[in-house]
Amino acid sequence: MPDHSSELINDLNSFWMPFTANRQFKSNPRMLTKAKDMHYQTIDGRSILDGTAGLWCVNAGHARPKIISAIQKQVTELDYAPAFQMGHPKAFELANKITDITPKSLNKVFYTNSGSESVETALKIALAYHKLNGEGSRTRLIGRERGYHGVNFGGISVGGIVANRKMFGTLLTGVDHLPHTHQLDKNAFSKGQPKYGAELADDLERIAMLHDPSTIAAVIIEPIAGSTGVLIPPLGYLERIREICDKYGFLLIFDEVITGFGRLGSPFAADFFNVTPDIMTTAKGLTSGVIPMGAVIVKDNIHDKFMNGPENLIEFFHGYTYSGNPIAAAAGIGTLETYSEENLLSRGSSLANYWEEKLHSLSDHPYVMDIRNIGLIGAIELQPIDGAPTKRAFNAFLKAFEKGCLIRTTGDIIALSPPLIISKNQIDELVNCVGEVLKEIE
Ligand SMILES: Cc1ncc(COP(=O)(O)O)c(C=O)c1O
Repeated sequence: MPDHSSELINDLNSFWMPFTANRQFKSNPRMLTKAKDMHYQTIDGRSILDGTAGLWCVNAGHARPKIISAIQKQVTELDYAPAFQMGHPKAFELANKITDITPKSLNKVFYTNSGSESVETALKIALAYHKLNGEGSRTRLIGRERGYHGVNFGGISVGGIVANRKMFGTLLTGVDHLPHTHQLDKNAFSKGQPKYGAELADDLERIAMLHDPSTIAAVIIEPIAGSTGVLIPPLGYLERIREICDKYGFLLIFDEVITGFGRLGSPFAADFFNVTPDIMTTAKGLTSGVIPMGAVIVKDNIHDKFMNGPENLIEFFHGYTYSGNPIAAAAGIGTLETYSEENLLSRGSSLANYWEEKLHSLSDHPYVMDIRNIGLIGAIELQPIDGAPTKRAFNAFLKAFEKGCLIRTTGDIIALSPPLIISKNQIDELVNCVGEVLKEIE
């Protein structure tokens, strides 16, 4: 295989890469040039098994024909239509397809271009809703430690990742945080939902009493915290959060940016856990990662509160140039049709036991402090190197890439979330690859 790397990598200086160790990357780049189904191809022609669905988004697998042809057709027919005061059929068609699979009471779709924008949109809808509802004193937002809600100011304010917050000033005011639910001392090596920790939800009541419930607008949580290392809600926890929200009139926002569209073997985590939020934020799997797009899905009664006043006036002063972009909408339709034709939104449930059994077979490896799993998500938490947190997992990531599998690491945790088309043989291959890596890392 001829080596074209020097032709293609002529200058890496201009691109300031996101969430990347830029200097490390540029000294030893990991370049992907092609992808098909479960595999990437590197610039030097190696095949890499995708253990992370890109960034938790390529749920249908790579280069799927229906998505490609939907985009190709759309771009020749209608490339762009103004998003404000104008419409085009595909945006409406996609919204209907989305609400066909969302929980029964969530039937209104507001388009964004990313998970971060979905979060900002959801927080703004929550605040505006209370104002329209005659409860303008409800201005506080409650997030959670170790929560990730994207990178915009609202999202990092309700989020609970110190590194994402500490450089950026005072953020939003009036935000408080629930404790995270990660308790390795009690729940290590749990399969599915951990047993202990439902009572951590009661902190919401404590926070409510501290600020007075009448000042709280909304609680936003990821049903499963993905970016901080797959923190799975303890049994009974989400139900308790819902109960407290209902008791005090807080809107409950589930950030389903990674859990949406089949990750758990059901359309949404709300279905899997049987807990219905008032607002859901989505992105990623909506277009299987192919074109940037997000959607906030809202209960009818919240939407209807906005539909008041003179009919010629804009009801919600919010939106993006690319909200419901025709090409993204076509990609979304192609994606949802692919999910439906191949039963991908439930496929995770038929693979979950196999996935669990294989992952937990790695528990004897050195440095493994915990393995946890749910749906088609897995995490392997490693003992950090003394004085060098994150280094062991990062080395595992580099070694895995050398061996031909893409894993993701956060802190000292390996997170796995393959495309939903993964076969049992490919699960074996992925777990074997990680097993080999675990044997070799120091
Ligand atoms: C739960 C959650 N919310 C929001 C986001 C932000 O999405 P984006 O990177 O598309 O802005 C992410 C991204 O990983 C996420 O996992």
